[in-house]
Amino acid sequence: MTETVSPEEMQATFAEVLGLCAVTPDEKVAVLCEGELLADYAEAFLRAASALGAETTRVRVAPGDHAGAEARIANLSASALASDTAAMATLKEADLVIDLMLLLFSHEQIAIQQAGTRMLMVVEPFEVLRRMMPSRALRARVEAAERRLAAARTLRFTNDAGTDVTYELAQLTGPPPACILTEYGYTDTPGRWDHWPSGFLASTGTATGVEGRVVMDVGDIVLPWKEHLASPVSFTIRDGVVVAIDGGSDARRLREYIESFDDPRAWAVSHIGWGLNRDARWTVDAPGIGMDSRAAYGNVLFSTGPDTEFGGSNDTPCHLDLPMQNCSLWLDDELIVERGDVVPADMRA
Ligand code: FE2
Repeated sequence: MTETVSPEEMQATFAEVLGLCAVTPDEKVAVLCEGELLADYAEAFLRAASALGAETTRVRVAPGDHAGAEARIANLSASALASDTAAMATLKEADLVIDLMLLLFSHEQIAIQQAGTRMLMVVEPFEVLRRMMPSRALRARVEAAERRLAAARTLRFTNDAGTDVTYELAQLTGPPPACILTEYGYTDTPGRWDHWPSGFLASTGTATGVEGRVVMDVGDIVLPWKEHLASPVSFTIRDGVVVAIDGGSDARRLREYIESFDDPRAWAVSHIGWGLNRDARWTVDAPGIGMDSRAAYGNVLFSTGPDTEFGGSNDTPCHLDLPMQNCSLWLDDELIVERGDVVPADMRA
């Protein structure tokens, strides 16, 4: 049930996050929205940015044939922005774009970032945003994790259900997007994208450098479905590609879902990382696109599909985020997550 919130409270909350984004009076803030979706967010962000003295503009693209973020993240196909050159020019000129339409894994998002614009995606219901307010402390823990991930050559994770998979980590040291994806819920860094709410990080294996087996256990979560698994599902991975999905009815549904996209690139292994947000819940019941389970403290977030967010060229619209509990994860030989608990002191909440 989505609760009501006053325009004043919404503006004040958004102002707090714009403050973390270090918006200054000489900056341009663009709010990107699709049709009338999240029109109240657009109004509140524009008022909050104006109150900070920034120059503001609203970029509204033609509505797509979907009802909002939950539908959009389930099929990341091209948006109206792709053919709207005037809108793209305005967005690239801005210092900060508030993305209310969900440009995740789009070529447009990358182009805007490459213009030096920082971007913050905001699509979750207000009660979720407010519960997972970003903070400098969360940023510090995510960045501590980023430093370790950047220095590592391999990532391995296991669980009692039978997972044992090793990623030869891509060395993501280029300008965005060819970098490790950190998400702590705000951005004050030119060209950097973030998503409020969040609190995790992710990298990818090299193109053919993921080998082993991922066995999701009962209770682990499938996004964008927002469902807990009722039976274990085993993914066999060879050379960075899922070559088999075995198990009961959940496995069959996952196989059929990926097959429905009729795209061989949908079988690629995508990003890998772990959650660091204590305010995020292990649940699929919160409204919205399910950032709780993506960011849940001590999870391991396994995923399949596109890699454009990491400088790759796979832009398949089929993307599964698969948060898993009770895993252990190592970077090279260092234990980072032990049975669902974060180990290094500088990452612990
Ligand atoms: Fe993802």
